[in-house]
Amino acid sequence: MTKSYKIGIIKGDGIGPEIVDEAIKVLDAVSVAQGCNLKYTEMLLGGAAIDETGIPLPDETIQGVNKCDAVLFGAIGGPKWDNLERHLRPETGLLGLRKAMGTFANLRPATVYDELVNASTLKPGVVEGVDLMVVRELTGGIYFGQPRELHEEKAFNTMIYTREEVRRIAEVAFEIAMKRQKRICSVDKANVLEVSQFWRETVEEVAKEYPEVELTHMYVDNAAMQLIREPKQFDVILTGNIFGDILSDAASMLSGSIGLLPSASTGRGVGLFEPIHGSAPDIAGQGIANPLATISSASMMLRHALGESKAADKIDDAIKKALKEGYRTGDIADYDAKEVVTCSEMGDIIAEYASK
Ligand code: IPM
Ligand code: MN
Repeated sequence: MTKSYKIGIIKGDGIGPEIVDEAIKVLDAVSVAQGCNLKYTEMLLGGAAIDETGIPLPDETIQGVNKCDAVLFGAIGGPKWDNLERHLRPETGLLGLRKAMGTFANLRPATVYDELVNASTLKPGVVEGVDLMVVRELTGGIYFGQPRELHEEKAFNTMIYTREEVRRIAEVAFEIAMKRQKRICSVDKANVLEVSQFWRETVEEVAKEYPEVELTHMYVDNAAMQLIREPKQFDVILTGNIFGDILSDAASMLSGSIGLLPSASTGRGVGLFEPIHGSAPDIAGQGIANPLATISSASMMLRHALGESKAADKIDDAIKKALKEGYRTGDIADYDAKEVVTCSEMGDIIAEYASK
């Protein structure tokens, strides 16, 4: 019998709609070929939601995502909404959605495609074979800590983690490490912050349940430097919300373009799958965005949320094949490109290869 899945679609702002359309194109091609049926429901978030309803995270979206098997999301934000008060900003909508969905574990794999070793600004020898996973805590830390206030002469935020919050993200990281090289580097700022000292102690506790996994700790400033100096030393990087945000952007440059890296946010129930990059308003609507991060996110969705690993493999292989054949979007066009393609052409190529 054909398996049927309900997929929530949130296109968002800027390049969001273009890149999500390409991911849907690929999902349709691969699901037909693999005999499953995906039903899409579009929902509003961010600037698009503000324009339509006045707020960045409408109730219908919160209710809608809970009726889905998984949610694919593009990107939100843009200059048009930058001057709004914080609670009305597009980003606040995304953070609210992550919180409402309970997606506390954000998995951001950074792998380097062999075909693109020359695309990185780092030397090929440094990045070749990089395969690391940033496990970023996503619904706590300074992004959500109370109190937070903005006044005329001062402003503050609060970085807070409870034991339960650290434990559960650490457990996710250890489970992932068990399926990889069994090495975790937990990144914090324990030489300065109490919250990091607490993070470190709690991760140590969880580590006792996973004696096979080697756990090391690193301060975040050093980790930023080591990611650039010798990225191959890392297997799983476990870290909090803001450090994970920053380090995953840095890690993306190992791969050559931030337009390549996908992410999966999982936790309580329905998972949210999104590229790690933003809405790139400067190139929106020009058809030059790189849809591969979103297409890879769709692959992560098939694998992690729907258990359709064969379909996911098809997409991953199709991406490698397209890169091998020399198809490149503008962001990676300087490097061994045979043909520079548009966002939609890249989607066509991946869809065709993935359906074979
Ligand atoms: C990301 C983004 C978001 C974050 C923004 C848009 C709120 O940078 O997903 O990495 O900081 O988490
Ligand atoms: Mn970010």
